[in-house]
Amino acid sequence: MIVYLDGSFIPKEEAKVSVDDRGFLFGDGVYEVTRAVDGRLFEEEGHWNRLQNGLRDTAIRSSLIDRGKIREIYGDLLRENELDEGHATVYLQITRGCAPRTHAFPQPECAPTIYAFAAPFKIPTDLRENGVSAITHPDIRWARCDIKSVNLLPNVVAKQRAVEANAWEAVLVRDGAITEGSSTNVFGVIDGELRTYPKSNYILPGITRDVILGIARERQIPYRESPILFDQIGRVEELFLTGTTTDVQPVVELDGRKIGDGRVGRIARTLQEALMEKMGAATASTAA
Ligand code: PDD
Repeated sequence: MIVYLDGSFIPKEEAKVSVDDRGFLFGDGVYEVTRAVDGRLFEEEGHWNRLQNGLRDTAIRSSLIDRGKIREIYGDLLRENELDEGHATVYLQITRGCAPRTHAFPQPECAPTIYAFAAPFKIPTDLRENGVSAITHPDIRWARCDIKSVNLLPNVVAKQRAVEANAWEAVLVRDGAITEGSSTNVFGVIDGELRTYPKSNYILPGITRDVILGIARERQIPYRESPILFDQIGRVEELFLTGTTTDVQPVVELDGRKIGDGRVGRIARTLQEALMEKMGAATASTAA
């Protein structure tokens, strides 16, 4: 596998980062995961804009990080690793760089560490078709969940709790409301209306979340960006997760209790199909 690290394309085994890297020492960095279909990036602009916001809000020096350059790196990684056919993902991580350990930003400024790789992606059709189970878990994260920080300890622990409960995702609950999943956004249907937590500092503004809301608008599926309260879970008719590697993933059981009739619902199915269509269409149209 060929990866990109600080200007070079090298075999993964040769890619080494210093122990002084602030990503390693402090989780001081941001990342993006973008879907590629037949070598073309899905929703590239959304991912780029979110990355820019993250770099701005963390004051990671971004002058070296140019959109065209990143696009070129992704393209080379997909080609070099023979991932330019079918579904794949590209991962990009930018940390503040390497400097002797001190909490405050290093002076003089150091160059950011830029790491990227491409990986094959196989859609887990069985899970998408039949749905998965999830658990609820307290959302103990910081108050800037909108930054796609590599500091993912609470997310890692929540996902592990789900795995230990034989569940697929941990649905996070803050102040009595479902915010998002450990690595996904969460949507539910109550009284026929689609609901998801509003964009704020308490969720990651998911790129797939935006696409799904766009599809809901196009198809006149009623929706509201308003939280589902923990106390309303009994009224939830459908529940599903969204994300770059999750697409629309129906949840049919939460905390051991069935959602609706315990089967994948109509709205989730419609959105799932529409998203796959869009992914094909969007990537095909950027080829022109
Ligand atoms: N996770 N919320 C969280 C906490 C996430 O980590 C993710 C994505 C999402 C969905 O965002 P998007 O639709 O932009 O992928 C929501 C990525 C895929 C990851 O950490 O691997």
